Amino acid sequence: MPVIAPIQSILFVCLGNICRSPLAEAAMRDAAVKAGLDLKIDSAGTGDWHIGHPPDRRAKAAALQYGGIDISGYKARQVRRSDFHEFDLICALDSHNLSDLRSMAGANPARISLLLDHLPGWEGQSVADPYYGEDDDFAACWHQVKAASDSIAQQLVKNR
Ligand code: 4NP
Repeated sequence: MPVIAPIQSILFVCLGNICRSPLAEAAMRDAAVKAGLDLKIDSAGTGDWHIGHPPDRRAKAAALQYGGIDISGYKARQVRRSDFHEFDLICALDSHNLSDLRSMAGANPARISLLLDHLPGWEGQSVADPYYGEDDDFAACWHQVKAASDSIAQQLVKNR
């Protein structure tokens, strides 16, 4: 799915905002810097259980090990109504997050998509929730969100 310019801000949304979406935020920040893109990037959760919490320790370890990125300062927050006005593109990590976001968004859901819709060959697929999984599941999650973020950055550079 092509990312239609102009995109100046991207929000990544999962359930808890402690595993998948902070990894996507970190990967996208890194991809944007490397591509010379000036983007506002954030992440949030549809749920409220982890508001104010740092990322899961396994997510922090994966970001550091595979991306060389320290995400220990990130703090979880919940999606809010203003996000639908403040962000040009909202990327849901899975199909449940996508339908929750579409319900919340009301009249203007046009720029809400699955994150993997932006990775050629992975359209329509969800990033699996690694919360009840193992370190390997966090590694797989990192590599998926990294590939998708790189793909978004490439498309934004192409459309610049
Ligand atoms: P995330 O993972 O949505 O990728 O942050 C989860 C984190 C916490 C829970 C579920 C998923 N939880 O049930 O608390």
